Amino acid sequence: MRTRMQVGIVGAGPAGLLLSHLLHRAGIESIVLENRSRDYVEHRVRAGVLEQSPVDLLKAAGVGDRLAREGLVHRGIELRFGGRGHRVDFPSLTGGRTITVYGQQEVVKDLIQARLDAGGQILFEVTDVSVHDLESAAPRIRYRSGDESHEIECDIIAGCDGFHGICRPAIPDHEEHVFERTYPFAWLGILARAAPSHEELIYAYHERGFALFSMRSPEITRLYLQVAPDENLADWPDERIWRELHTRLETGDGWKLNEGPVLEKGITPMRSYVCEKMQHGRLFLAGDAAHIVPPTGAQGMNLAVADVNVLARALSEFFRTARKDQLDAYSQTCLKRVWRAEHFSWWMTSMLHRFPGDDGFQQRLQRSQLDYTVGSRAAAASLAENYVGLPFE
Ligand code: FAD
Ligand code: DHB
Repeated sequence: MRTRMQVGIVGAGPAGLLLSHLLHRAGIESIVLENRSRDYVEHRVRAGVLEQSPVDLLKAAGVGDRLAREGLVHRGIELRFGGRGHRVDFPSLTGGRTITVYGQQEVVKDLIQARLDAGGQILFEVTDVSVHDLESAAPRIRYRSGDESHEIECDIIAGCDGFHGICRPAIPDHEEHVFERTYPFAWLGILARAAPSHEELIYAYHERGFALFSMRSPEITRLYLQVAPDENLADWPDERIWRELHTRLETGDGWKLNEGPVLEKGITPMRSYVCEKMQHGRLFLAGDAAHIVPPTGAQGMNLAVADVNVLARALSEFFRTARKDQLDAYSQTCLKRVWRAEHFSWWMTSMLHRFPGDDGFQQRLQRSQLDYTVGSRAAAASLAENYVGLPFE
């Protein structure tokens, strides 16, 4: 079976779905191919923090109604170390900017609904997706659906298929453009049916390792613990997770962490990764397909939205005028923001985690940096400005 489509999008994560939605609003037809089921992508628990600009974009694009109703607007975070909490206030340090806590899978649900309501095509549970003839004016996507093989001839292909997708490896020399760091730890994350015991996120620096308190709704708490990179989830029964969370988050000021049934748990590896070649011929990568940040700066989903904002504008110019200036500059335009987020995420990660084998030198640097960050308005403003994210151009 052969078809034609202006833009073929691989991956129905936040990047692929938002791109399809923005293109539809610009009068450009697209199809989204996803190898998982709709139920799976709508329930995959991942990031939870949206910066100001992605929130503004989702609202302006008509997919922000539920986000506006149910998203929790936060005006700061707490850094907890040395036995007490220190609040960083975003609006006063950033000219009024805030963040919104709203689960990634909720963004995904809203975008899928909007595409289907508008008659958009999202094909779930396709297999054997591959991309071809990228240097030609008619690149093709092949896939299987059930027992049938299909081919779509496109003008443009968008690789929005995450870190383990097939699009980045289809760029012949991509490995020559990769910059990467791994970290000697991972995060164990849980979702619990428990009312949040604090109004804002708490990033805790503790001698037993980093811990993060977050939330999803007035009934659901999200929590993370620094663990070893090769940690086995089976070694972490719920009682052990709660004991460790209490120890690392409660610092003797009377604050108590609420417990509840654990709904989901998983281990996330920590990595910094950038493939600076985000385009090849008529293939353009967006989101995790091109870059990964360690989650400490809450930047991952926001970067995916930022890439797609640039790509949708460039494609809009291309289909309207046949000009390729913005498309040609796509990698370069995105990489400025990508490297800012990479630096911030690396910096937050380095400041807040225990590094195995540290002889105490790094701990003293961390403590000095933490004291400076909460003690100096300039340093606090730098954290706040990066955390709420730079405005989209
Ligand atoms: P994805 O959301 O990964 O979407 C890619 C889509 O492509 C997926 O639906 C996938 O199924 C599909 N796909 C893959 N291969 C193929 C194929 N061959 N054919 C068709 N479809 C394919 N960020 C934070 O800020 N905080 C967090 O706590 C956090 N936790 C995370 C936990 C995990 C386990 C992971 C993997 C990421 C986490 N992130 C977190 C990062 C954040 O979730 C990502 O940055 C965000 O998902 C990027 O969106 P995306 O659309 O680019 O990629
Ligand atoms: C969440 C995840 C993060 O990586 C982060 O830095 C803050 C919050 C979350 O899942 O709520």
